[in-house]
Amino acid sequence: ARQNSFCFSTVIFSMLLLCHMLAGAFLQFFLSGKRVSSENINFYNVRPPLDPTPFPNSFKCFTCENAVDNYNCNRWAEDRWCPESTRYCLTIHLFTEHGQSISVTKKCATGDECHFVGCHHHRESSHRECISCCEGMICNVEIPTNHTNAVLAVLHARRASGGSRWTASGALLAALVVATLS
Ligand SMILES: *[C@@H]1O[C@H](CO)[C@@H](O)[C@H](O)[C@H]1NC(C)=O
Repeated sequence: ARQNSFCFSTVIFSMLLLCHMLAGAFLQFFLSGKRVSSENINFYNVRPPLDPTPFPNSFKCFTCENAVDNYNCNRWAEDRWCPESTRYCLTIHLFTEHGQSISVTKKCATGDECHFVGCHHHRESSHRECISCCEGMICNVEIPTNHTNAVLAVLHARRASGGSRWTASGALLAALVVATLS
């Protein structure tokens, strides 16, 4: 049994070594600009070295709970991938009638949670609460303060055309549509 496990680790080690060599060849192919023979390289096995995305279309959100203001939320926000069941970044901003922040909460959210975007008045306290959602990598940097920015901003054009210019205008258009409807 001991010999078997030694054999096994030798095989694993050889495979790792092979992977390493393949990755090296892959890098050399791109860095040198020279055409190294690529016949034996399986490009599907080469993984990006830095912080690989956990699944297709994965994204991150600023995440905080009841921070005193936006600065303190973003400053301590966790840098974490959102669960696959979520699609948006949600922000809840509670503030006084003079616009002074009381509480900022940011998190990953499902489409259902984003049905509640908009602003409303707390009658007793005269505080206001605005909720916004957005789609995209760490998109919830700002906090909603009025009906113009307390909207669901989605990236309709992203998958259709792929251009970054269209992504921005797509988000703006979607935001306007949602604002008009609400
Ligand atoms: C909404 O808030 C944004 C940012 O604070 C501000 O620039 C904009 O003028 C406000 N819009 C309205 C309609 O008050």
